Amino acid sequence: MKKSKTDAPEPEPPGSKFEGLPGFLLALCGFAVAIGIGVGAGRLVKGPADENWRERITEASKVMVEQEKHRPRPHLLGHTMEQARLGRETFSAFCAACHQEGGTGKVGFAPSIRNRDFLALASDDFIRKSIRMGRPGTPMVPWSQLTEAQVEGIIAYLRSIPVAHAPQVEIDPDRKFAGDSQRGAPLYQTYCAACHGAGGQGYIEGGSGPGIGLPGFLAVASDDYIFQTVKHGRIGTPMRSFLGAAGLANLREEEVHDIITYLRSRETEVPSGPSKTAVVKAADPVAGEQHFNVNCIACHQSGGVGKTGFAPSIRNRDFLAIASDEFIVQTVHNGRPGTAMVARPDLSDAIMKDIIAYLRSLPEADGVKVPVDPSKKYAGDATVGHAKYATYCAACHGQKGEGYAAGGSGPGIGLSGFLSAASDDYIFQTIKRGRVGTAMRPFIGPTGLANLSESDVSDIITYLRTIN
Ligand code: HEC
Ligand code: HEC
Ligand code: HEC
Ligand code: HEC
Repeated sequence: MKKSKTDAPEPEPPGSKFEGLPGFLLALCGFAVAIGIGVGAGRLVKGPADENWRERITEASKVMVEQEKHRPRPHLLGHTMEQARLGRETFSAFCAACHQEGGTGKVGFAPSIRNRDFLALASDDFIRKSIRMGRPGTPMVPWSQLTEAQVEGIIAYLRSIPVAHAPQVEIDPDRKFAGDSQRGAPLYQTYCAACHGAGGQGYIEGGSGPGIGLPGFLAVASDDYIFQTVKHGRIGTPMRSFLGAAGLANLREEEVHDIITYLRSRETEVPSGPSKTAVVKAADPVAGEQHFNVNCIACHQSGGVGKTGFAPSIRNRDFLAIASDEFIVQTVHNGRPGTAMVARPDLSDAIMKDIIAYLRSLPEADGVKVPVDPSKKYAGDATVGHAKYATYCAACHGQKGEGYAAGGSGPGIGLSGFLSAASDDYIFQTIKRGRVGTAMRPFIGPTGLANLSESDVSDIITYLRTIN
């Protein structure tokens, strides 16, 4: 199935253009002219000129600009352009890796959430819940670390993207269909399974559409939301209308009710993700590659090579030599708070084993072995370490080790998530060896980039430990 373009014009980022500006300017000019005339007339009739008129106009225009910012736009459903601006930033930082810039989505990977039909069917509450609760078992994690202002901002941002010919659809969230799940099962397999997966698990089963049989989706989507989606389809995506003579499959309404009842009947029996099937088998790099492609590729790139300034390489020879399996599992389960590396406690140990087997199976020239002693502790001088850090590390890792968040080219080595996962010796060995093929070079000794001594490095590590 080829992905066609959506019909809506490319989203105009709010902020690049001030909406309704012409009218606003006209009003302001009119206002200025009126004051000008008033002032002029006042001069004729009343005598002394009002010397403060310029200030008054400036003041008045400031007030109008403020009002304009907060003027509700009907299509924003009560949100303001200010919110949309914040939302756009939040979206780029946390969502665009998967949902793409502007939210256009990627078939087989993450749905379009700026889609005309999606936005017509999804209430603010649906979007809010999808963000807060996530879709367990899929890369759509619950985004509990976002503030309320950020979540509302994202909703405002999505609603601010111009949409052509938006349909008006009333969804009744309380409506329940009492179809027949026995009849629904074969209908689902015939018409929906090819894209949404035989088990309704969507992308994680290799489908081109999302997991409409997963508990996370079924918990937020009402029967009517599913029904209207099947009726309208989603323009510009492989999700077509399936209902009636104009639909892809000429399904009758009752047949769609049967499919919905079937999906609901499986709600409790569907495990979150394919984890249950992989209990005691040996680590499987082929399965690991699939899990990697679903859950990690958006940021760590194909084959895990990473992207400078965005996400580190996790198939790097030196990284894999220094990082234990435990380190990788812990990093994924706990995430790195404050970075795009969100916690994925939902990925089972079996899935993690497969992913690690995959990373470790990737061919790497001149493999190395580096023993790391996690019990080793360095007790250097934090003040000296701070100065050394500022000279040799801050340019890439940020003034306080904030990493990418501060525009750095390297990860956030001063952040709590990294520091709680990495032992002193892990940090030491990384500084000693560098990471071949990346901007992270060896820094110790005469062959190192900075000829640092081991005690310099001990000072730097001691400093890093004081940041939090
Ligand atoms: C790591 C990839 C990833 C990131 C990052 C991500 N999402 Fe998702 N999102 C997904 C996937 C995959 C789905 C579909 C899951 C399923 O149901 O199979 C999804 C589903 C959704 C849905 C429901 C869409 C629908 O059609 O019902 C919304 C809304 C959403 N995401 C918003 C967001 C927002 C807002 C952010 C940023 C705070 C975000 N997502 C970050 C991967 C991601
Ligand atoms: C040709 C592939 C294809 C078929 C067949 C298909 N879908 Fe979809 N469906 C998709 C895609 C792709 C999306 C997500 C659209 C996007 O990327 O934005 C989707 C989205 C949906 C959604 C919205 C999910 C959400 O997270 O909000 C529902 C509900 C849905 N489909 C139900 C069905 C049902 C029921 C059937 C069978 C009658 C069906 N689909 C058949 C590809 C398909
Ligand atoms: C020229 C830029 C640059 C400089 C200077 C630099 N680094 Fe790095 N560092 C990186 C990059 C890039 C990575 C991640 C490599 C990748 O993308 O796979 C990294 C990775 C690391 C890691 C591993 C982080 C993790 O998440 O596992 C540590 C620890 C580290 N650097 C410490 C230091 C210290 C200490 C200094 C100063 C002595 C330093 N770096 C100087 C660019 C730099
Ligand atoms: C939405 C983007 C994103 C996704 C998806 C993602 N990561 Fe990350 N990951 C990052 C970022 C960014 C960092 C570096 C954070 C920092 O600054 O410390 C990171 C760091 C890591 C590290 C530490 C690397 C090091 O050098 O210490 C590992 C291991 C890792 N990720 C594994 C995974 C695995 C496995 C998956 C899939 C299950 C995954 N990540 C999914 C963005 C992501």
